[in-house]
Amino acid sequence: MTAPAAEAHETHTASASRTPILQAKGLVKTFGKVVGLDGADLELYPGEVLAVIGDNGAGKSTLIKCLTGAEVPDRGEIWLGGERMAFRRPQDARQHGIETVYQNLAVSPALDVAENLYLGREERKKGPLGSVFRVLDRKGMRERARAELRSLGISTLQDVTVPVENLSGGQRQAVAVARAAAFGSRVVVLDEPTAALGVRESNQVLQLVRDLRDRGLPVILISHNMPHVFDVADRIHVQRLGKRAAVITPQTHSMTDAVAIMTGAATA
Ligand SMILES: Nc1ncnc2c1ncn2[C@@H]1O[C@H](COP(=O)(O)OP(=O)(O)O)[C@@H](O)[C@H]1O
Ligand SMILES: [Mg+2]
Repeated sequence: MTAPAAEAHETHTASASRTPILQAKGLVKTFGKVVGLDGADLELYPGEVLAVIGDNGAGKSTLIKCLTGAEVPDRGEIWLGGERMAFRRPQDARQHGIETVYQNLAVSPALDVAENLYLGREERKKGPLGSVFRVLDRKGMRERARAELRSLGISTLQDVTVPVENLSGGQRQAVAVARAAAFGSRVVVLDEPTAALGVRESNQVLQLVRDLRDRGLPVILISHNMPHVFDVADRIHVQRLGKRAAVITPQTHSMTDAVAIMTGAATA
């Protein structure tokens, strides 16, 4: 762990008067008669992994979609770094440094690792070749992809020219997370990143999540997997019936406590 990273993490654990990097206040989102969010709050602090848990239909995805521009809330406020946001599209959130890995493995199988990392933000060659003839800077993107993977400590992806369809589930997820890490300058959001993975691959992804946090990039992790949540989260946001029921920590609550709050059998 590098010195600034350790500091970033310490800031989170030590300070009580800290300011959230990302905040939702009273978000309401209805779909016809169905209430997706019913006054949901959320706070993400610098240097932390915040897990979001909750039963099916609790509004986890809707909350995350509002925070990442995929849905527009009917009411409520979203603040990023002390500034009020009005995201209309995922692109808006991305432009503000929020990168999201959605559940359905957001990678393109036929493209190679480097191409996937730069999908949608391909870099052109310098000069008229790039500006007039739109020639892609493949060599440059590959070099930067290698450097990015190296800096994340992703050793499982040695060759960035391999098509992603030839990779394992864990390696694919690593590509998706690396992509988010490469472009997410302020917040990374991961929706069920270990859902389709085996034990070893899950552990690699969880380690990646810790690494991002330790590099100073806060992470929101949506997961059903209690052991994973308790393993990696600094704080746990429990979503229930469209709003936040509690915020707990692995130090103060057990997995059984968490499930009880999720189902309404207990309060924090
Ligand atoms: N696009 C949509 N259209 C209609 N209902 C939706 C839509 N998205 C979510 N909902 C409803 O909103 C509620 C919250 O859903 P969701 O945010 O997906 O919960 P979770 O991710 O916690 O399972 C559910 O009742 C769900 O059926
Ligand atoms: Mg969901």
